[in-house]
Amino acid sequence: MSETTKPIILDGKQTAKDIRSEIAETVAGMVERGEKAPHLAAVLVGNDGGSETYVNYKVKDCKEVGFGSTLIRKADTISQEELLQVVKDLNENPEIDGFIVQLPLPKHIDEQEIIRAIDPGKDVDGFHPVNVGNMVLGMDGFLSATPSGIVELLRRYKIETSGKHCVVIGRSNIVGTPMSILLSRNTEVGNATVTLCHSRTKNLKEITLQADILIPALGKPGFVSGDMIKEGAVIVDVGTTRVPDDSKKSGYALKGDVKFDEASPKASAITPVPGGVGPMTRVSLLLNTLKAGRLKA
Ligand code: GUN
Repeated sequence: MSETTKPIILDGKQTAKDIRSEIAETVAGMVERGEKAPHLAAVLVGNDGGSETYVNYKVKDCKEVGFGSTLIRKADTISQEELLQVVKDLNENPEIDGFIVQLPLPKHIDEQEIIRAIDPGKDVDGFHPVNVGNMVLGMDGFLSATPSGIVELLRRYKIETSGKHCVVIGRSNIVGTPMSILLSRNTEVGNATVTLCHSRTKNLKEITLQADILIPALGKPGFVSGDMIKEGAVIVDVGTTRVPDDSKKSGYALKGDVKFDEASPKASAITPVPGGVGPMTRVSLLLNTLKAGRLKA
């Protein structure tokens, strides 16, 4: 991009709003036909500020689209067995179409065992090994919310991915790894040549400079500077780190992994933070819950 051309802002906030309207319409139709509205449950253990905010948003989103929602709060002293029982009860509750256990869990809890206990048909986070396996094999299942939200954002903005070099930074189970797999698949948004970079990657800048699509997902505010970006690249910033900011009522600001001011003169398209990937992640959970509800209808 030349100095005078502005990049396309990949507006996740507006896109998610559009999708919520579509979901609300679908739910209204279901209810009109006498079907049950989808119902999401969220389990929140302890009182971590970030987790609390995210779960509250999830409940609010459900209300907006006409889903039922249940918030189950448990003290951070809960035992592994007690939490497994909560999961078992939700698996068996016919009112609940899908549920999530908000992560991270307290250190004394074996997170993987909790995830494995969730019925894959209700695992709207897409974290269960069965759903991860289905994703790898290109079979139907629930996709992890952030990568599927990014795919939907790229699809709606008609960003070409086929044959492009896509560089993902960060290999987490819930973002970087599934993102790299989804973009390399033979699907409409896919067929990219993907490089997955991580903390042991050498010469990172050499690699990011080759990226047609750059997806940093490492949670380090401002990690990606302008000199790491190829002219015309599409930038999808997954980072949303809370940094103290006295000018905000909340006392913090959300910062992305990308230095936006340095990146935007070079990018052809870029997601803002906030208002980019975050809202798409939230709406993906609603889409998964809608799918879970319909599967049971
Ligand atoms: N913690 C951070 N992101 C997520 C998410 O997408 N799902 C759950 N369950 N916990 C999280």
